[in-house]
Amino acid sequence: MTTGRTSDLWWKNAVVYCLDVETFHDWDGDGRGDLTGLTERIDYLAGIGVSCLWLMPFQPSPNRDDGYDITDYYAVDPRLGTLGDFVALIRTAKDRGMRVIIDLVVNHTSDQHPWFKAARADPQSPFHDYYVWADEPPEADTSHKVVFPDQEDSIWTKDAKSGKWYLHNFYRHQPELNIANPAVRDEIAKIAGFWLQLGVDGFRVDAVPFLVDPRHSQSAAAAGLDPHDILRDLRAFISRRKGDAVLLGEVNLPAKGLRKFFGDEDADEVHMLFDFPLMQQMYLALARHDTRPLRRVLEKRPPIPEESQWAIFVRNHDELTLDQLTDAQRQEVFDAFGPDDDMQLFGRGLRRRLPPMLQGDEARIRMVYSLLFSLPGTPVLFYGEEIGMGENLAIPGRLSVRTPMQWSSDPGAGFSSAPAKKFVRPLPGGEYGPLAVNVADQRRDRSSMLNWMERVIRRRRETPEIGWGTFTLLETGSARSVLAHRCDWESSAVVALHNFDGAPVQVQVDLGDVDGVAEVVDLLDGSIPVQPLDGPVLDLALEGYGHRWFRLRGPGTRNPP
Ligand code: GLC
Repeated sequence: MTTGRTSDLWWKNAVVYCLDVETFHDWDGDGRGDLTGLTERIDYLAGIGVSCLWLMPFQPSPNRDDGYDITDYYAVDPRLGTLGDFVALIRTAKDRGMRVIIDLVVNHTSDQHPWFKAARADPQSPFHDYYVWADEPPEADTSHKVVFPDQEDSIWTKDAKSGKWYLHNFYRHQPELNIANPAVRDEIAKIAGFWLQLGVDGFRVDAVPFLVDPRHSQSAAAAGLDPHDILRDLRAFISRRKGDAVLLGEVNLPAKGLRKFFGDEDADEVHMLFDFPLMQQMYLALARHDTRPLRRVLEKRPPIPEESQWAIFVRNHDELTLDQLTDAQRQEVFDAFGPDDDMQLFGRGLRRRLPPMLQGDEARIRMVYSLLFSLPGTPVLFYGEEIGMGENLAIPGRLSVRTPMQWSSDPGAGFSSAPAKKFVRPLPGGEYGPLAVNVADQRRDRSSMLNWMERVIRRRRETPEIGWGTFTLLETGSARSVLAHRCDWESSAVVALHNFDGAPVQVQVDLGDVDGVAEVVDLLDGSIPVQPLDGPVLDLALEGYGHRWFRLRGPGTRNPP
């Protein structure tokens, strides 16, 4: 499909940036980020090339799961602003050509949601059947099923008021909505419709496998319900309301199970899926200095419909989960990147950001982000990655990586003018604190991570072969340490090389089909001049943890400069 080229199916060539309003930028000086503060930073984000924002939940919430526990789906948490501020944000983002997607957290509500309060108080209430109840837990021991084993040991909790048990895969304060109830499905559509009407471009759908799983439900309606129909209905609904709105699904499953959530040939379920298998194997490959785990997962990646896209990421807002690795493999990653107990979480993940895990090794950190921007899929950044922020392990659990954005070395890191004790979360100190890592200093330093990131994002956006093209792994004679791949799209090809080893290496890259290729153009730092190509093998040196991108250019090309 070439109509509109790279602007059609915009999510195939987007750069997504995830942030939590609360920790991004505080405008009213209360120590908590707000919508106006974010609006004031849209030009910064547009400047680094972000084309789509993903906002973590900002609706009213008792905040017992950082906003993933909502009490009103049709409002903004008053601590963060108003619906008016939200619309001002959307308008500003649109004006700068940026899309906005928001979290759709409808697998569960907060137990403080008026629906749940009504449901507990009166079994005759229409809201009772909004949730999943049982007179007795259907299984005695569900401790292996809980998502947060540090806090919960069962997915069923007895409600003192109604005397019945309710289902919660996550915390007990997050009762599961009953998707088998058509009224709940209508409500979900109404919520999605509301935010689309206010201008959002789609949703990051939280906890999809739980959301669409009707098996837990005791109701007869659940029996004949196909979970994938639920997603198909939601997709059809949002597409009717807004043709180019997207669903980005959080489905942490191995590749085979994952693929189903795109839908069949028709691509009629979610548009995008986070590639959890790729992320996990990438960390194993990094820990081993050996590309082969990554190579294998890429080879096994199932083909997807043209409209669909993988969302790839180095770090998200949760624990860096390694649950798809074997125990021994996970231990290797723990040993390499988070050896202390305090760095690990739930026995399956790490609560650190990348730069401290790689001990600040700049070449290696950039190699990883170069991978993020050159592997097929749409890159998703977590705020602060562009300047190489670290975590604050003094903050419990998953929140260690959700510290305030570090804008400058001013007191309060330019995040807020409030006294530090009023901050929503404490800043890290030391070598990853705001005195060492901040936007203001990095803007003024041409060789900084921020300026490098800006250049690589610009290049990624001008390189649609990566988002749209067909992917092939290339031979280099150094399969263990070097990953070489090629993306082909519309008679243009891009080749990327990544050295997972700290030692320099000489590679002979077998480029494959070079019919019609006249030149090899270095797409990143340009340190290798444009070279005429005189055969299918490119012989070149890669530095330790080096990375390179090339375009194979034919005569009369119309590629970006
Ligand atoms: C998802 C979110 C996580 C949240 C959970 C419950 O896994 O990524 O942050 O705690 O759902 O909503």
